[in-house]
Amino acid sequence: MNDPRIGRILVGADELQARIAALGKEITADYADDPPLLVAVLKGAFMFMADLAKAIDLPVEVDFMAVSSYGAATRSSGVVRIVKDLDLDLGGRHVLIVEDIIDSGLTLQYLRKNLLARSPASVEVCALLVKDGLQKVDPALKYEGFRIPPDFVVGYGLDAAERYRNLPFIAEFLPDAV
Ligand code: IMP
Ligand code: MG
Repeated sequence: MNDPRIGRILVGADELQARIAALGKEITADYADDPPLLVAVLKGAFMFMADLAKAIDLPVEVDFMAVSSYGAATRSSGVVRIVKDLDLDLGGRHVLIVEDIIDSGLTLQYLRKNLLARSPASVEVCALLVKDGLQKVDPALKYEGFRIPPDFVVGYGLDAAERYRNLPFIAEFLPDAV
């Protein structure tokens, strides 16, 4: 895509796939006795969920939930609203939240609390990206893909005003470029 607002590539497509394969292996080993229920947070995590699920060699189940915290702005409000809830019951299940990116960590804090209230056996988190030094709360991630600088990024599921989700890599977003 020849778009001046797409800046430096921070994580290339091959690098993404290699790391996701490794995460899949780790998860496969850790959950061998109890296949997890993968819960992805829409929309940002849709692509990561698809690739991660394929990299896990266990009979997992998947479910989706949508929360809204940003609107079209690029800063976290800390206010999270469930736009689409899960279809499956979490009672007694080992839940693995699949998140695209941890910025302030507020969205994840809310989600974890919300899911823990549904009597799961466990709730852990696999986040593809973690922004360096920005977390207001300890995100306590069991699995983490990449640490990136605290810039706004797009691609591989992540958007700026709903665009760029289909880029196969993670790039800096330059809002002021013409
Ligand atoms: P947090 O609550 O501040 O951790 O924000 C988490 C959510 O904000 C993520 O799940 C994303 O949907 C969105 N978000 C945070 N940083 C970025 C970014 O750099 N690009 C696109 N979306 C982002
Ligand atoms: Mg998200």
